[in-house]
Amino acid sequence: MARIDRGFTLTWLGHHTFRLDTREGLTLLLDPWVESNPACPKEHQSFEKIDVITISHGHGDHIGDAVTLAKKFKPTIVCNFEIHQWLQRKGVTTTSPMNKGGTQELAGIRFTMVHATHSSGIEDGGQVIYGGEPCGFVITLEDGTRVYHAGDTAVHADMALIGELYAPDIALLPIGDRYTMGPREAAIAARMLKPKWIVPAHFGTFPALTGTPDALREELANAGVKAQVIVLAPGESVS
Ligand code: NI
Ligand code: MN
Repeated sequence: MARIDRGFTLTWLGHHTFRLDTREGLTLLLDPWVESNPACPKEHQSFEKIDVITISHGHGDHIGDAVTLAKKFKPTIVCNFEIHQWLQRKGVTTTSPMNKGGTQELAGIRFTMVHATHSSGIEDGGQVIYGGEPCGFVITLEDGTRVYHAGDTAVHADMALIGELYAPDIALLPIGDRYTMGPREAAIAARMLKPKWIVPAHFGTFPALTGTPDALREELANAGVKAQVIVLAPGESVS
């Protein structure tokens, strides 16, 4: 198993869903698509508790289990204002909305909402509801480690600002192509973000998501990027 020797454990639950267990014992869930996520191993679909959930945008493969998990575990849900309003209409009372460019601190962890280039409609009862703008998050853990969860996004020039302002240590980047960046774009994203480690995600779930970690490594070499790629299998952790 890869090691990055910091005070937390990061587990890929498949697709773009990650679990972060922090040094102080908090459980964070990034993009809650668990039970209906075909890539999430059964043994990782249950939780003892969830303290914070972040939501990058309204698509079902990111928000799919938000309402169920919110009602069961009462986590603080960090999301944009429109998703907050939608969750409230679904009876979820523990949201903590914000918008891009801002930071909020919860239990000693800082959540900064950053730009993403994608869409964010919420499918609800056969209709598509406006879900605000998609986003990514830079999460600053208790030990100062900064984790950038890009959400679904194309590569965009604001990633240079994210690199300059927040200097993420670890970047969780989509590489599947078609609906997000592919490996070539992700390598250029990494050149702007300058992380020490990259964990690729949003690939392999469906046949349409064709980007691979091997292709990412090749493109990083072409782009002159030195970051280490940590390839996890769904359910696998790095600590
Ligand atoms: Ni999406
Ligand atoms: Mn997606």
